[in-house]
Amino acid sequence: MSASIENVVLITGASSGIGAALACRLARPGIAMLLHARGGVNGDKRDLLAQRAAEARKAGAEVEIKFSDLLEDGVGKDLVSEALKHFGRIDQIVCNAGFADRRLFGELTASDFDKAYKGMARAFFEIATAAIEPLSKSSRGRLVAVSSFVAHVYAEGGLFPITAAAKAGIESLSKSLALQIAPHGVTVNCVAPGYTRKESSGHSALSEEAWKRAADKTPLGRIAEPCDIAAAIAFLLSDDARHITGQVIHVDGGLTLA
Ligand SMILES: NC(=O)c1ccc[n+]([C@@H]2O[C@H](COP(=O)([O-])OP(=O)(O)OC[C@H]3O[C@@H](n4cnc5c(N)ncnc54)[C@H](OP(=O)(O)O)[C@@H]3O)[C@@H](O)[C@H]2O)c1
Repeated sequence: MSASIENVVLITGASSGIGAALACRLARPGIAMLLHARGGVNGDKRDLLAQRAAEARKAGAEVEIKFSDLLEDGVGKDLVSEALKHFGRIDQIVCNAGFADRRLFGELTASDFDKAYKGMARAFFEIATAAIEPLSKSSRGRLVAVSSFVAHVYAEGGLFPITAAAKAGIESLSKSLALQIAPHGVTVNCVAPGYTRKESSGHSALSEEAWKRAADKTPLGRIAEPCDIAAAIAFLLSDDARHITGQVIHVDGGLTLA
């Protein structure tokens, strides 16, 4: 790593949508990033993350990439080790990777529940556990997790039971950790997006029609763009947000008010 690096950031789920928009927003000289993704369900999307990394390098960032499936044991810890191996430290982590499942009780099995919980709440738990020590050594330690409106809005036709449970788990883990780690100057927050545009390469749980209805349901009259969510995450990572911890920031066009 070059001596002029000011900030080392790990972003999970950086191959498309919000994670990719964040990597693009943060990329500049002086920043090092470990960008992570699964590489698609069958490894068919590996090129995408490599492309994101190339774009970020062009903007002056130092970038490494890592493919792993957060459903596998130990992956969270490996990701933190990988960032330390490449860059020698970690200042900030964004746990963004996730997926939505809109199946209802009766359609869902216990193993679907385990998958949602493992891929999101447990992955966050593993990453955060491994990161406590390195983040505590940083003068700008930040952990931001991407939650979802689905853990806050319960409306007929828009229920995501196991995704909501997994995201609610992330939010409560974040609040406990925020208090525990506050004496080290590290902040822990969540951003809860409303309906947010998917890239064609993303994993959408909704049909075209359902996306149109989502915009109608949103008080500001449109769904979010990935850059809207990335802006809020970037703010929480910034020095300006140094006194904000244990919060859930809703970036949802007013959806949680409706
Ligand atoms: N879009 C929305 O409407 C919306 C609303 C509320 C909350 N959110 C949350 O925002 C976050 C980003 O969503 P997005 O819409 O930007 O999604 P997206 O474009 O589908 O990207 C999801 C990212 O997460 C990665 N990922 C998914 N499952 C993974 C696994 N098991 N192991 C490792 N990586 C995995 C994907 O990797 P591969 O593509 O390589 O598989 C991809 O990089 C998610 O946590 C999501 O729940 C989204």
